[in-house]
Amino acid sequence: MISCQKSTFSLDPAVHYLNCAYMSPLSKRVEEAGIAAVRGKRSPNYVTPEDFFSTPLRVKQSFAHMIDGDAGRVALFPSVSYGIATVANNLHLKSGQSIVLLHEQFPSNVYSWMKLAARSKADVRTVHRPQADSLAEVHAAWNEAIIDAIDASTAVVAVPIVHWADGTLFDLKAIREKTRAVGAALIIDGTQSIGALPFSVSDIAPDALITAGYKWLFGPYSCALGWMGPRFDAGEPIEENWINRKGSELFSGLVDYEPDYQPGASRYDVGEKSNFIIMPMLQAAMEQVNGWTPEGIQEYTTSLMAPFEDRIRAAGYEMAPKHTRGAHLFGIRLPGGQSVETVKASLATNNVSVSVRGSAIRIAPHVYNDEEDVVALVDALEQASLA
Ligand SMILES: Cc1ncc(COP(=O)(O)O)c(C=O)c1O
Repeated sequence: MISCQKSTFSLDPAVHYLNCAYMSPLSKRVEEAGIAAVRGKRSPNYVTPEDFFSTPLRVKQSFAHMIDGDAGRVALFPSVSYGIATVANNLHLKSGQSIVLLHEQFPSNVYSWMKLAARSKADVRTVHRPQADSLAEVHAAWNEAIIDAIDASTAVVAVPIVHWADGTLFDLKAIREKTRAVGAALIIDGTQSIGALPFSVSDIAPDALITAGYKWLFGPYSCALGWMGPRFDAGEPIEENWINRKGSELFSGLVDYEPDYQPGASRYDVGEKSNFIIMPMLQAAMEQVNGWTPEGIQEYTTSLMAPFEDRIRAAGYEMAPKHTRGAHLFGIRLPGGQSVETVKASLATNNVSVSVRGSAIRIAPHVYNDEEDVVALVDALEQASLA
C-alpha cells in the first residue's frame, strides 16, 4: 500500500485538511514545476515552436493513461463548463426529446443543458434524490430512478460518477446500457472522481467525459480535460484558434489559412492551450497521481478511515456503506436534531477542514492525510454530538 504522502506536500501543520473535493493542495513537486515554468518566461528566446505542442501532448497522454483511453481523443479545456458547452453545442435535439440530469448536480453540468433544451424545445428531466431511511436505500432507489427516467424520448444523459455533495456512486454500467438501448448520448462529469476512483473509458464507453484539473488531478486552477468519443469526431469547437488548425506546427505558414482542424479531439482544445505555466504543473501533477494510481488512493483512504467508522456511527452519525460511495469522498449524515452550526463550530475548534452541505458533512481524504487528521475529525464529531 502507498505510504502517507504528507511530507511531499506543504500543508499547514495546524490544519487537518480533509477537503480534496474542494481543491487539492499543491504538492512540492507541482510547486517546483510551477516555479520553473514562471522562470521560463524570463528568456522567451528558449521557447521553441515545438514547446507549444509537446507539454499539452504529454498532459493528454497522462490523462489517457489515467482513464484507459487514447490520447488522440483528449481535449484541453479551461473549465468543466467549457467542456460541457463544447459537447452540448454539438448535440442536435428535436422538440419533445429529454435531457436527463440529477438532483442538485453541479451547475457547470446543468446550465448548458438548460440552454440546449430551451433552444431545441426539449425537456430537462431531473431525477430527484429519493427520501429513504438509510443512505444505502437512497443509493439503490436513486440508481433505479435514473434508469427509469431514461426512455425513448431521451437524447442525452449528463451525470457525474459520484455526486459532488455526498459521494453517492452512480451505476454507470447500467446507465450506459440503458442509454445505448434508447440511442441517447452519455456525457459524464468526472470532476469528483477521475484520478481518485478507477474509471475506464474503454469499459464504459461514454460519449464524452469531462474533468476539472484542480481537484483529484492535483493541477492548478483553470484547467480541465475531456475525452471525446466518436460522436464528436467532426464537431465544431467553441472558438476558432490558430493552433487547432491542421499544420499549425509550421509557424511560417500560419497565414496560409487552413480549413481543416488538427486530427482527433484537438479541434476542441482551448486557445493558448500551450499555457506555459499551467501545463507543466498539470503534467507534473498527473504523473504523481498516476504513480499513486486511483486503486492505490482508494486502498489508502479506505484503510485510513476504517478504524474510525464505528466511533463515528456510535456518536450517532450515519456513514453510507462502502459499495454506495467512493472511499475518497463521502457524506456523513447528522443525527436527527443535531444542529449543523454546532458541528461546524466543533470542526473549527479542532482545526478540521471539510465541507458542510445541508445536513451532511462532506469528507474527502487523500494520501497526504494521516491518522491524526482522522482523530481530529472524529473528536470534533463526538464533541458536537455531546454538546
Ligand atoms: C462535479 C463538479 N463539476 C465541475 C466543477 C467545476 O466546474 P468548473 O470547472 O466549470 O468551474 C466542480 C467544482 O466543484 C464540481 O464539483
